Amino acid sequence: MTNRVPLIAGNWKMNLDHQQGIALVQKLAWTLKDANHETKDGEVVVFPGFTSLRSIQTLIDADKLEIGLGAQDLSQHDAGAFTGEISGAALKKLDVQYVLIGHSERRTYHHEDDAIVQAKTAAAFRHGIVPVICVGETLEELETQGQSAVPVRQTLAALADHEKLGEFVIAYEPVWAIGTGKVATAEEAAQVAAKIREAIAAEHGEDLAQATRILYGGSVKAANVAGFLRSPEVDGVLVGGASLDVEEFSGIARFKKHIAL
Ligand code: 13P
Repeated sequence: MTNRVPLIAGNWKMNLDHQQGIALVQKLAWTLKDANHETKDGEVVVFPGFTSLRSIQTLIDADKLEIGLGAQDLSQHDAGAFTGEISGAALKKLDVQYVLIGHSERRTYHHEDDAIVQAKTAAAFRHGIVPVICVGETLEELETQGQSAVPVRQTLAALADHEKLGEFVIAYEPVWAIGTGKVATAEEAAQVAAKIREAIAAEHGEDLAQATRILYGGSVKAANVAGFLRSPEVDGVLVGGASLDVEEFSGIARFKKHIAL
């Protein structure tokens, strides 16, 4: 058994306006409360779009909700002439605790390479926000390089050359499993998580590797979450589509119930 608290992260992507976001978070909080959900069993964090962050922060703060707040991206720069970008300082001011970095959709559509992911990770550390570094192989890479080579390489690249590493989370999301309904098997997810942990241990020491949460993402649903989290190697899930449905997402957060069955 590890003492890593499972992280249940909901990436809303470009969905929901701030009013819909508020309604979802309120309903999510009630549903989890009704089910006596405790954060020690699964830390629930939502990742809304930028325009919803302020409203949701206000709601979480006013109602003292046990729901964490994350952003979907940040600039590698701290301030200046970078039209359209959002700084780590601005996110920190909104009590943002986590930030997704290097999601495959950013790597693909915005050409974010390992150097940018490394620079954004550094920006998150500078501003005291925990980076959730997303890694994963495409179908072509899976066929030519196997399952763990790319995620391990991307992880080490993101963690290289920092003055000091702060807390971070790795999210293993095979690109071929995102939004496709295709899922890695629980065994595959556990094997890749173990390889990533081994690589972190070799490069940065066993203590850091043991403290680091490694998540699985890609077509996670309430019906399949227990399989992934049964393995001690997988410390949570990064959920896309199913995080927009309160019943599904709260079912995912309450994965222990399924494991106990
Ligand atoms: P889906 O859960 O919709 O496959 O998305 C996964 C994802 O990209 C989460 O970041």
